[in-house]
Amino acid sequence: MSKQVALVTGGLGGLGTAVCRRLHQEGFIIAATCSPSNGQRHAWLAAQRDEGMDVLVVEADVADDSACARAVQRVLAETKRIDVLVNNAGITRDRSLRKMGVDDWHAVMGANLDSVFSMTRHVLEPMIGQSWGRVINISSVNGQQGAFGQANYAAAKAGMHGFTKALALEVARHGITVNTVSPGYLATRMVSEVPEKVMKERILPAIPVGRLGTPEEVAGLVAYLASEQAGFMTGANIAINGGQHMC
Ligand code: CAA
Repeated sequence: MSKQVALVTGGLGGLGTAVCRRLHQEGFIIAATCSPSNGQRHAWLAAQRDEGMDVLVVEADVADDSACARAVQRVLAETKRIDVLVNNAGITRDRSLRKMGVDDWHAVMGANLDSVFSMTRHVLEPMIGQSWGRVINISSVNGQQGAFGQANYAAAKAGMHGFTKALALEVARHGITVNTVSPGYLATRMVSEVPEKVMKERILPAIPVGRLGTPEEVAGLVAYLASEQAGFMTGANIAINGGQHMC
């Protein structure tokens, strides 16, 4: 069999980069989507090449179904197969509901949840054709417990769980597993945008291990789910949050 291919949405971000690197170490060919407005693309790619990793970077607004279709076609044209899809792309627009506009709602639902529907549906036929696939949806602790100022984000991230479970039922017979990973607060740029006072006084004290997680810790879990060994795990939601939320 030719080398397996992993496609990571939002692959240039903090967690996305760690996932790309880890899957590359595991022997996958890596493709990543990035937002059309990402000005860091060339510098990021050069940095990864310096580290010995080549990545097929495809621009796509993952909130747009036709852009997702084009991105998947582009990857398939180059690599001929997609074995693993990591739905990692996501944004926040945090504000309390009284201040949240319709745009804040739709932007977050589009990037975080519509994207999961669109990317997954476009990779599904190739995966069914191979009788093997892994779909890994990156959710959040805040999709499980909610968070002040995140009605949009928490709804999108919670929505992933239903999607994961329904699709897991549909595609199990084709050798495809579908799982959700729910990370807690990680040391990434997204989390660094939380106001310092909120982080110090409300978030860190609620994390029993007493620190933020690292993207690499979550990437290790993604690598397990992507592996052959994980074939009996499907429809699961795996929490990795330093004990902040236990269920
Ligand atoms: N619980 C209770 N009260 C809170 C609170 C909380 N967690 N956070 C803020 N408040 C309080 C403030 O202290 C303030 O009180 P006062 O009015 O008495 O001063 C009040 O609520 C502010 O209310 P507003 O309606 O004015 O809030 P806002 O619209 O300005 O929004 C916020 C504030 C932007 C939500 C800010 O609190 C914030 O950024 N909070 C962090 C949200 C968060 O955790 N985001 C996670 C981002 S990282 C991520 O999402 C990755 C992941 O998956 C984990």
